Amino acid sequence: MAASRPQAGAFDSIETASRDEIVALQTARLKKTLQHVYANVPHYRNKFDAAGVAPEDLHSLQDLAKFPFTTKSDLRANYPFGMFAVPREQVVRVHASSGTTGKPTVVGYTKNDIATWSSLMARSIYAAGGRPGDIVHVGYGYGLFTGGLGAHYGAEHLGCTVIPMSGGQTEKQIQIINDFRPDIIMVTPSYMLVLAEEFDKQGLDARASSLRMGMFGAEPWTEAMRVEIEAKMNIDAVDVYGLSEVLGPGVACECFESKDGPVIWEDHFYPEIINPETGEVVPDGEEGELVFTSLTKEAFPVIRYRTRDLTRLLPPTSRSMRRIGKIVGRSDDMLIIRGVNVFPTQVEELILKDPRLSGNYQLIVTREGHLDALEVQCELQREASFKVTGTERQEVAHLLRHHIKSLIGVSTEVRVMDFGAIPRIQGGKAQRVIDQRGKP
Ligand code: DLL
Repeated sequence: MAASRPQAGAFDSIETASRDEIVALQTARLKKTLQHVYANVPHYRNKFDAAGVAPEDLHSLQDLAKFPFTTKSDLRANYPFGMFAVPREQVVRVHASSGTTGKPTVVGYTKNDIATWSSLMARSIYAAGGRPGDIVHVGYGYGLFTGGLGAHYGAEHLGCTVIPMSGGQTEKQIQIINDFRPDIIMVTPSYMLVLAEEFDKQGLDARASSLRMGMFGAEPWTEAMRVEIEAKMNIDAVDVYGLSEVLGPGVACECFESKDGPVIWEDHFYPEIINPETGEVVPDGEEGELVFTSLTKEAFPVIRYRTRDLTRLLPPTSRSMRRIGKIVGRSDDMLIIRGVNVFPTQVEELILKDPRLSGNYQLIVTREGHLDALEVQCELQREASFKVTGTERQEVAHLLRHHIKSLIGVSTEVRVMDFGAIPRIQGGKAQRVIDQRGKP
């Protein structure tokens, strides 16, 4: 496989501590977090009161099951800063991810939170096989998305040289990799395969690049894709997991020596798997929805946050902390298109802004080569079907495509059809998404 792998080993001693030590630390930190949110976030205080629980009711980690869940709609109801647990002046950074409608989900960080995040991302890079002195090419987007800046601060914290490339500009990415000779690349797995093709296009041998390792995440990917990336690039391909509401990238990361699922940094996050229908906690090893409680966050602590990601908790291997299996799906309808989170309801909102369009629509998701493609099929209102000319139809499509790109951040094909062209369901739920990509 990849040339000159470093020696395996942990970055922080807690990674290999005894389970008893980890559980004791989690329990102490959880008690503090519950008190912190109860004292400082009206939303949590009201929810705890309504459920008849108080921070003092937690004696062991299992008691957490008595506390209410937090969902994306709770965050939305408190938009933008209502879930912050410290005065806004202490928040040094905000990020945002897609909400189910036009309003994004806003998260905040204190100085200490940024330091924690940087150190957890440094720990993740180390687990993936990165070492101080390595050159790191960051191809995750910089901006409201947590990918770019999260990776950037982590790599700096570890003592690496960071190339803040961000996403896009495929030809230039290759030029920079050739000239700056990075050891590590961080991008979405689907974009890595596009970059591999670009090497070919430019007549370059991707397997001979300077890269030794890649950290891939922000979207689901399979073992088959790992094999493909490793073969095409001659690197170790490692899985990094995270979500904005819990931290950003670096909630969990695979160890390069085992590559057997991301290790959850359990000293900072307490995971549970629940049955998404009943909310009951299920035993380790069983599939269900992943739920996280933050244990050290100051500005934006989350209690039992429902990630909607479906997976399993696996026993510790290379570290003393538990791992997550591959994300096998989601318990909501969020799509991830080229790393961008998209909710059908967000698209619906934009369609309905144009009075010429009816509320009937379908999202067709396909895979073109290695990249996902999204086609929005919508239809004209009954009266508009007769009045709207061909040129105007093109204009409707252009406008919608533009709004989706600028407000949701994803490029789409838009097809404006006649009234009645989209199949009507005969009762039950409308089928808004037709996913032709096959299972991840
Ligand atoms: O995607 C954070 C991130 C950036 C992770 C870069 C890894 C690398 P969000 O935009 O909030 O945050 O999207 C979070 O993306 O709930 C999963 O559904 C999905 N996701 C993230 N990492 C993985 C992964 C970032 N390794 C949502 N495998 C999550 C599968 C992933 N899905």
